Amino acid sequence: MSNEQPVFDPKNMPFRRLGNSGLRVPVFSLGGWLTLGGTVVGDPVKEIIKIAWENGINMFDTAEVYAQGKSELEMGRVIRELNLPRHELVITTKLFWGQGKSPNAGGLSRKHIIEGTQASLKRMGLDYVDVIFAHRPDVTVPMEEIVRAFNYVIEKGWAFYWATSEWSAQQLEEAHHIASKLNLIAPIAEQCQHHMFHRERPEKEYLPLYSKYGMGTTTWSSLASGLLTGKYNNGIPENSRFAQHSDFFKNTVAELQKPEGQEKIKKVRELTKLAEELGTSTAALALAWVARNPNTSTVILGATSPEQVVENLKAIEVLPKLTAEVLERIEGILQNKPEAPNLFGRPALDTFGRPAY
Ligand SMILES: NC(=O)c1ccc[n+]([C@@H]2O[C@H](COP(=O)([O-])OP(=O)(O)OC[C@H]3O[C@@H](n4cnc5c(N)ncnc54)[C@H](OP(=O)(O)O)[C@@H]3O)[C@@H](O)[C@H]2O)c1
Repeated sequence: MSNEQPVFDPKNMPFRRLGNSGLRVPVFSLGGWLTLGGTVVGDPVKEIIKIAWENGINMFDTAEVYAQGKSELEMGRVIRELNLPRHELVITTKLFWGQGKSPNAGGLSRKHIIEGTQASLKRMGLDYVDVIFAHRPDVTVPMEEIVRAFNYVIEKGWAFYWATSEWSAQQLEEAHHIASKLNLIAPIAEQCQHHMFHRERPEKEYLPLYSKYGMGTTTWSSLASGLLTGKYNNGIPENSRFAQHSDFFKNTVAELQKPEGQEKIKKVRELTKLAEELGTSTAALALAWVARNPNTSTVILGATSPEQVVENLKAIEVLPKLTAEVLERIEGILQNKPEAPNLFGRPALDTFGRPAY
């Protein structure tokens, strides 16, 4: 893939619309948190992105804060070095934490949204990203200022769409209300944590937003940072994420020693047995389970090696194996299904009259 521009081959990757937008995204995309530009630098970043691209992944997610800007730098460098055609790529980045600690260095003020977008584009060496995310809500800034600033970024051509990450349903409602009142563009998706041990927000709190606004999700940590691969069943392996970022994951590791943590590991072992029956790995089963959710637009993978990318993409083959019966068995193992909304006897239809909930 030296000087010749490679042609994108989606292979067996299914594509979905990102929320109610016209943008199509691969069901599995790749992100750079802690990995690309962080624990992985130089040629290995290129190898990971190359293998992803060759296996149908054309969507890459980063953020201004990842490795203090180095993730965006590395991703931009690799896209140039691999000569990937820009129109075939879906690039997303996220603003909130900024760089440095000065009063206007981060957050969602109009100032930081505009300056932060420009700085991210500069680091990546790109003219535009496809989607720009508000990495967190900023309750210190009026919602109208936030919605107007993201619309300005879109009008300028620096991003095609905007979206949110870890906003509450109430905050999303406010953003939609303001966008609709002022005839502005509303966010199209939510980047939320969603995995077998983290379900309430994506599977319960956001339910009305999916049917009302067609909101989609770009899910993160769908392997619970690796816990759902089974790699932490017998302790913390050297070079693993929990070992390399021991400070950040201090509480997670401490929890694994306690009864709640042991309970999770017991469930991972049971999932492994089910995965074996289905002829796949625990990781592929866990990832396919998130992708199987109809509100998931894309599951963002994280990987420290090309092998992990290949291994995790086996999830595509697991998707058709997740029959109602298998999903029931998974619920039997997890025992954490969020409570369905109380319909007070009304039929379970969404606002368009389609079966829901
Ligand atoms: N919006 C947000 O607030 C937010 C927050 C977090 C992440 N994200 C996005 O979501 C992406 C994915 O999140 P994540 O990295 O936490 O996802 P994840 O899939 O839960 O964890 C990925 C990590 O698990 C380990 N792993 C992955 N596949 C494996 C396999 N087959 N076998 C063994 N270990 C494996 C690797 O770490 P080791 O090899 O180092 O153990 C890898 O880096 C991020 O890159 C980022 O783009 C967004």
